[in-house]
Amino acid sequence: MSEPQTSESTSIRMIDVIRKKRDGLELSRPEIEYLVRAYTKGEVPDYQVSAWLMAVILRGLTRAETSVLTDAMLRSGDVLDLSELAAKKVDKHSTGGVGDKTSLVLAPLAAAAGLAVPMISGRGLGHTGGTLDKLEAIPGFNVNLAVPKFRSVLAECGCCMIGQSTEIAPADRKLYALRDVTGTVESPYLICASIMSKKLAEGVDALVLDVKTGSGAFMKEEEDAVFLAELMVETGERMGKFMVALITNMDQPLGLKVGNALEVEECIEVMRGEGPEDLRELCLELAAWMLYLGGVAANVEQGKLYAAKLIDSGKVLQRFRQMVALQGGDVGAIDDPARLPKAKHTQVVASPKAGYVNAMKCEAVGTACVVLGGGREKKEDSVDPAVGIVLHCKVGDRVEVGTPLCTVHFNSETKAAAATRLLLDSYQIESAPPTQKKPLVHRVIQGRK
Ligand code: URA
Repeated sequence: MSEPQTSESTSIRMIDVIRKKRDGLELSRPEIEYLVRAYTKGEVPDYQVSAWLMAVILRGLTRAETSVLTDAMLRSGDVLDLSELAAKKVDKHSTGGVGDKTSLVLAPLAAAAGLAVPMISGRGLGHTGGTLDKLEAIPGFNVNLAVPKFRSVLAECGCCMIGQSTEIAPADRKLYALRDVTGTVESPYLICASIMSKKLAEGVDALVLDVKTGSGAFMKEEEDAVFLAELMVETGERMGKFMVALITNMDQPLGLKVGNALEVEECIEVMRGEGPEDLRELCLELAAWMLYLGGVAANVEQGKLYAAKLIDSGKVLQRFRQMVALQGGDVGAIDDPARLPKAKHTQVVASPKAGYVNAMKCEAVGTACVVLGGGREKKEDSVDPAVGIVLHCKVGDRVEVGTPLCTVHFNSETKAAAATRLLLDSYQIESAPPTQKKPLVHRVIQGRK
């Protein structure tokens, strides 16, 4: 382990920054800037930053600290100037969920509508999946493009999807990976700084946020999701962006497939005009806002109709195919998803009793996927693109003893057994049907426009 550090340029010491936050005090701008700069450069060790992150989870950050942290993380790398592109630049980002895969549909959809989508995404975080891990399930797909290549793909097909890099939002790249494995994801302040630093570095004009709430979200309570949404909308507006946040349901997985290659497959279904209704519906809602804020639809209703038309015309799938080709991916796997990575084994999880699925412990489904190898337990873990879960029953469905609830796709018997336990525990089966069906979109928090 390397030695704990002191700032050379100032007398700030990391140990004092940790203690100050541990004791619930407000950090100064130089202290936060020091922490971000020194960690990004590798001058403070993971263990000290982990301790600081945990102190933030327990003590929180003030609005001023959050704003300075976001700004310092944004300025840890380049801020793109995409003014050479005539199209309006829009993006969408989710706070993270299970089976939450809309980005793969939305980037090519908005591009097909004439907008530019310079999307910087993340990997799986905690029990939630990540866009980069999903894209890498497509053989050859490169999410690590240098800025000039990113610009050229964007100019050619209107969308490009990459990760944080040493050039763009490097502080988030390091902090994100550390938070993933240290139980320090669930802080609205850290989530705000992580998301907004990446998104502000992209040089977008407008941003649509999908803020998840429910048992599979980081914000389990709606009021916490609203707090986070307002924090991010406020931060984006301060930087001159058109902003909206949709508070959406994450009490059960979105769609039917959870796991990297399985989710790519399901997105292809949606882009073909097929796929599960809830996934298509949420894609249309989020797309409608992207098209409206990007100025290619007069209002959200028209945006939704336009988005549906673009999917049904095949133009979205065509655009996705083009982006995959430009980023080095195997388009054969898009034309024939059977060529995506496949797990060696599958096993059905059957219902132990008769009744109705009243609820799902959605986080447990995400954790089951991580346990199978679809996410990371440690920073250096690699992800198995093939494993995951296909749901056959969701909330409201009637089941009998032995009805297949879901199918586990796995490469290790031991991992499959652990995942199966989690999945059985996730399904809450009661004799009566659930009394209430939650809407997909709970609330909309809109900035000015
Ligand atoms: N998505 C991000 O990019 N960062 C977070 O902290 C959570 C979700």
